[in-house]
Amino acid sequence: MPTLLFINACVRGRDSRTLALAEQLLERIREANSHDMAFHIEEIRLSTENMLPLNYERLQRRDELLAAGQTDDTMFDYANAVASADMLVIAAPYWNMAFPASLKIFLELTSVEGITFTYAQDGTPIGLANASDMYYVTTSGGYIGDCNFGFEYVNALCRLYGVENTHFVSAEGLDLDGADVQAIMEAACSGEIVNF
Ligand SMILES: Cc1cc2nc3c(=O)[nH]c(=O)nc-3n(C[C@H](O)[C@H](O)[C@H](O)COP(=O)(O)O)c2cc1C
Repeated sequence: MPTLLFINACVRGRDSRTLALAEQLLERIREANSHDMAFHIEEIRLSTENMLPLNYERLQRRDELLAAGQTDDTMFDYANAVASADMLVIAAPYWNMAFPASLKIFLELTSVEGITFTYAQDGTPIGLANASDMYYVTTSGGYIGDCNFGFEYVNALCRLYGVENTHFVSAEGLDLDGADVQAIMEAACSGEIVNF
C-alpha cells in the first residue's frame, strides 16, 4: 500500500491554523484517490519527536555507520521514511520568514548521502527518494511575497532528493486587522490535487 508521509511541523497543537489547512489538504487527497488504490498516512509530529541537531559526536557516528553501510540504523529512521514515502506533505507555519527550527533539524537528519540522495561519478546529484510529489502547507500573519524562504529551501532539498513536483499551499494575511480568516483558509486549498 502506498504511503503518504505527513511531516507535521506545527507548534500550536489543535490551535494551529497550518494544521487545519493541512488537514483540509489531506482530506482532498483522500477524496481524489478514493477510487484508486488505498494508501496509508504516516505522521511524524515534530513537536513530540526527540530530535537533536548534529554535533561533532553524532556526525562522527553517522559517518562511521555510513562507511559500514549500516543505513538501517535508527539514526537514519527519518531519512529512510522520507526516501521510501510515495508522497510527502509538509505543514509548517511561516515563522521568521521561513519555518520553525524543528523542521530544520528534521531536514538535517533526512539529508543523508546514500539514503535520500547520492552523487554520480561526475559529481551530479542523483535523488533517491521514491515520491514524485511534495505539498508544502503554510499559513502566515502577513504576506509572504518574495520572502518565501521556507518553501524555497524545502523545494531545493526536494530537487536534491529527486522529488520532481512540488506544490505550495498557503493561507496568508491571517493576522492582519479585519482578515476574514475562514474565507482565506477555505480559498487556500482549492488547487488541483495529484494522484498517487
Ligand atoms: C515565532 C513566530 C514567528 C512569526 N514570524 C512571522 C513572519 O516572519 N511573517 C509573518 O507574516 N508572520 C509571522 N508569524 C505569524 C504566523 O505566521 C501566523 O500567525 C501563522 O498563521 C501561525 O500558524 P499556526 O496557526 O499554524 O501556528 C510568526 C508567528 C510566530 C509565533
